[in-house]
Amino acid sequence: MHEGLSARQGTDGSDRSGTFPSGFLWGASSAGHQIEGGNVASDFWEMEHAPGSVFAEPSGDACDGYHRWREDVGLLAGLGLNAYRFSVEWSRVEPEEGRFSRAAIDHYRRVVEGCHERGVTPVVTLQHITVPRWFRRSGWWTGPAAADRFARFTEAVLPVVSEGVGHVCTINEPNFAAMLEYDLDPARAARATPGAEGGPAVPGPATTEALVIAHRRAVEVLRSVPGLACGWTVCAVDHQPVDGAEEVAAAWARPRQDVFLEAAKGDDFVGVQVYTRELIGPHGPLPVPEGAETTQIGWEYYPEAVAGAVRNAAKITGGTPILVTENGVATADDSRRAEYITRALRALKGAMDEGVDVRGYFHWSLLDNFEWLLGYRPTFGLVSVDRTTFERTVKPSARAYGAIAGTGRLPE
Ligand code: NOJ
Repeated sequence: MHEGLSARQGTDGSDRSGTFPSGFLWGASSAGHQIEGGNVASDFWEMEHAPGSVFAEPSGDACDGYHRWREDVGLLAGLGLNAYRFSVEWSRVEPEEGRFSRAAIDHYRRVVEGCHERGVTPVVTLQHITVPRWFRRSGWWTGPAAADRFARFTEAVLPVVSEGVGHVCTINEPNFAAMLEYDLDPARAARATPGAEGGPAVPGPATTEALVIAHRRAVEVLRSVPGLACGWTVCAVDHQPVDGAEEVAAAWARPRQDVFLEAAKGDDFVGVQVYTRELIGPHGPLPVPEGAETTQIGWEYYPEAVAGAVRNAAKITGGTPILVTENGVATADDSRRAEYITRALRALKGAMDEGVDVRGYFHWSLLDNFEWLLGYRPTFGLVSVDRTTFERTVKPSARAYGAIAGTGRLPE
């Protein structure tokens, strides 16, 4: 250790070098529907196959992750990462209302055990965008008894999270899920004008409230597991107001993001999921600046967004510990991903040096996978997946990330 106060230590004694604290979680994230394949009892499977579907292609076999999970955990561990965030798929666990699949619950228990065997800490998401068909039919999150239904499901998966799972995310990106509802309804999407006042995608107060209540009920159920940290994961954007647009930016961010962070006040942690920034002008979001690099899905390539997003989360929650549960870039040029990771981590460390309490970083995503409406074209993975053979190939960016994770140090 340093003798006295080195140039790289802050006056408060914090380590301002590129070294992350010991115990920091270095991980990668995935989600059931996006990697498992054959998720036939889910609402998305049904919508992907409906006439006039708004999906570029159906999810099909995805990455065959339901069968190849052991290989995936092995790849992650082999890279030097120490944590894996994956989701249990509600529609597999409860394909019909009130009827639970013991086989599916056993499957996810085995994934948790498999993580432990490889020295990897599992972080489990209970619900990641998709829900069982019956849940959508009965009104989705705004249906009667939605919170009771989610609490009953949470109870059913307690065996999955009751041993050696440090963190459970209840609902993934409740704010994005609420906004996505607009795009899933082709008629509504066609009517909506992006950027128009009030639309297209603002989570309504009733939906927001229903999601918050469901989260709280799940947390109550999870409290029966001693030592389990519970939180939800919020879709965050680094909103940057241009001069004079501070109030507009705050008003824009509030219903779309900040109320969901506010609901995490007092939770054991909050997940921050961030990919880019959004410049806000006097009338709302501005287009990506001319000449700026964009990713495969049109977002600005802006790795430093993670710092703004965690600072905002810390401010709004009043210091709830943060996990960056998703951060990444859709690009076919893997060298851009490697740079993105290093720059994002450097920016994140800067925010931590200012006192933001960040406990881990999970890259999105372990694998190239099913990017919802856009299908398989966007590639977010550290590992590519052959669409015919499912063969996995580790990309150089994964090794670069693994090297940082293994030493806990940023390159000079
Ligand atoms: C957030 C979602 O949680 C994840 O499912 C999605 O693939 C990524 N962002 C990238 O859009």
